[in-house]
Amino acid sequence: MRIDLSGRTALVTGSTQGIGAAIAAGLAAAGARVAVNGRDPGKTGAAADRLRADVPGADIVPIAADLATDQGTSALLDALPDVDVLINNLGIFGTKPALDITDDDWRRYFEVNVLTAVRLTRAYLPGMTSRGWGRVQYIASDSAIATPAEMIHYGTTKTALLGVSRGFAKAASGTGVTVNSVIAGPTHTGGVEDFVYELVDKDLPWEEAQRAFMREHRPTSLLERLIEPEEIANMVVYLSSPLASATTGGALRVDGGYTDAILP
Ligand SMILES: NC(=O)c1ccc[n+]([C@@H]2O[C@H](COP(=O)([O-])OP(=O)(O)OC[C@H]3O[C@@H](n4cnc5c(N)ncnc54)[C@H](OP(=O)(O)O)[C@@H]3O)[C@@H](O)[C@H]2O)c1
Repeated sequence: MRIDLSGRTALVTGSTQGIGAAIAAGLAAAGARVAVNGRDPGKTGAAADRLRADVPGADIVPIAADLATDQGTSALLDALPDVDVLINNLGIFGTKPALDITDDDWRRYFEVNVLTAVRLTRAYLPGMTSRGWGRVQYIASDSAIATPAEMIHYGTTKTALLGVSRGFAKAASGTGVTVNSVIAGPTHTGGVEDFVYELVDKDLPWEEAQRAFMREHRPTSLLERLIEPEEIANMVVYLSSPLASATTGGALRVDGGYTDAILP
């Protein structure tokens, strides 16, 4: 399969590192003009420079904006009024005992993980439908379908994204725009290294810590290792392509078989 996204503009939210950076690289390698985003101008510019070095000839647009704020969202929409591919990747996570999660915590998680994606979909979907082509994706998580006891606020926001995705897919029906969510499993990112060390012995070297984490906290993984960000990006790039024209309203798993279920 040859994936050609030349002539398309893509936005990947929260893409200065981790899964977002891998998705941005994958889309750029397929020929798309890619907007990378984070809160800090220096970090966002550095991420854009890395992408240009990794993908020769890539057309990268750095946009520093805090998308959890109205001001940041307005700045982004001024800088980038239209996109063909919207990847709602931005998400925060962290552990907290269920009974200690405050109203402010719940609000913050829904604001960052759900409402940023809803706002951007509302802003960009009409342009896509009027042009007759577009791709919208939400990066969900295994936590969407197996609520983790140690972070029910996070899991619940990811469950919400599956409904948001299905709902906007219906809003785009018959237009040439597809809307899907990708259920990412435990992935080897910087954020996850911190998370792993919250749950296993901090003195273990990374390889052992990773294995202990999978054994003790993710025992159903069929992969028996963390997923690499590029493995998530491969699915996202495919779904962003014209080849995936008949896949919409779906929730696709890249979880290493971690979720012990046949569907979705
Ligand atoms: N890692 C996993 O194992 C895993 C598993 C399943 C699903 N996921 C999901 O995959 C997505 C990416 O996860 P990740 O682990 O790659 O994330 P990460 O390494 O923590 O990176 C988060 C990114 O978001 C940016 N960011 C944070 N707050 C922002 C805001 N308010 N406005 C704009 N940008 C902001 C950060 O940039 P700055 O710091 O520069 O602002 C950074 O680029 C998330 O939705 C996560 O829930 C991750």
